[in-house]
Amino acid sequence: MPGGNKEAWPHLKPIFQAIAAKAPDGAACCDWVGEGGAGHFVKMVHNGIEYGDMQLISEVYHVFRNGVGLTNDEQGDIFAQWNKGVLDSFLIEISTDILRYKDTDGEPLLEKIRDAAGQKGTGKWTAIAALDYGMPVTLIGEAVFARCLSSIKDERVRASKILAGPSNSTYTGDKAQLIKAFEQAMYASKIISYAQGFMLMRETSEQFKWNLNYGSIALMWRGGCIIRSAFLGDIKSAFDNNKDLESLLFDPFFQKATANAQAGWRNAISTATLIGIPVPALSTALSFYDGYRTARLPANMLQAQRDYFGAHTYELEATPGTYIHTNWTGRGGNVSASNYDV
Ligand code: 3PG
Repeated sequence: MPGGNKEAWPHLKPIFQAIAAKAPDGAACCDWVGEGGAGHFVKMVHNGIEYGDMQLISEVYHVFRNGVGLTNDEQGDIFAQWNKGVLDSFLIEISTDILRYKDTDGEPLLEKIRDAAGQKGTGKWTAIAALDYGMPVTLIGEAVFARCLSSIKDERVRASKILAGPSNSTYTGDKAQLIKAFEQAMYASKIISYAQGFMLMRETSEQFKWNLNYGSIALMWRGGCIIRSAFLGDIKSAFDNNKDLESLLFDPFFQKATANAQAGWRNAISTATLIGIPVPALSTALSFYDGYRTARLPANMLQAQRDYFGAHTYELEATPGTYIHTNWTGRGGNVSASNYDV
């Protein structure tokens, strides 16, 4: 994902593209990304998305293991099956291998690994950038916080002995149906995560005049990197159809894909919630989807509260761009706070 001076690219291109990984159609997974620090930024977002994909897989494993009682081998078979469909990806492939891997005593090695995640920081940087540029990249944020929660292992062990969960922590319904629901939930959540990642890149590209080529980014990510997947071909097609696509969710293919997945998605998350298994990435994706498709959110209440306690002003629906203050109590006066926007 090289960025920097465009004039340098023709000199470097033959070398970089010769050594780059190749997509299944032979295309080199390396292209000039944009001016300045665009290359580093795009690689950082790639890693943030990687954190999200890994967390989604881990949540499904958690529900299948603790809530449904599936063995590691049974889960490996499910993942292997998923790897032939819309979830076909490097991370599903290696997770299948991990689930099936046996230690020298014949037991799954995975179950002996301490559940405290490390991180070198690129997911955290993506989440920080999302906050800095005001983009709701919620799934990567949750994935980073899930790692933080996992790493306070000793505290969690103490909490596990005193905090109550639901009376029923086992799923007793139709297993095949729930497995299908989780496949849909993971697929829809991935769509949201990538849509959020592209929102962040779009915002920074506009601010820094990087002129990012989103289709070529999707193409680069199709091979040779940790988030490589079949699904990136569909993202590439979406940007081929409309290079100025405002959001992946506006693309007809992804609109239909989320609509088709949403029944299973909702079912998966509500089931996990009822049996007390945390699914922060899966559920934040659904909350984002529901928020994004809501024309009127409750931020009017929030604006009124800010104006009530801090005279921070608000806009009326009828006159956007004009900020006014109300003396809500009759005791606050008409002086409003100065305007600033982070
Ligand atoms: C990677 O290997 O892709 C990145 O360095 C991510 O590593 P991390 O999970 O330790 O942040």
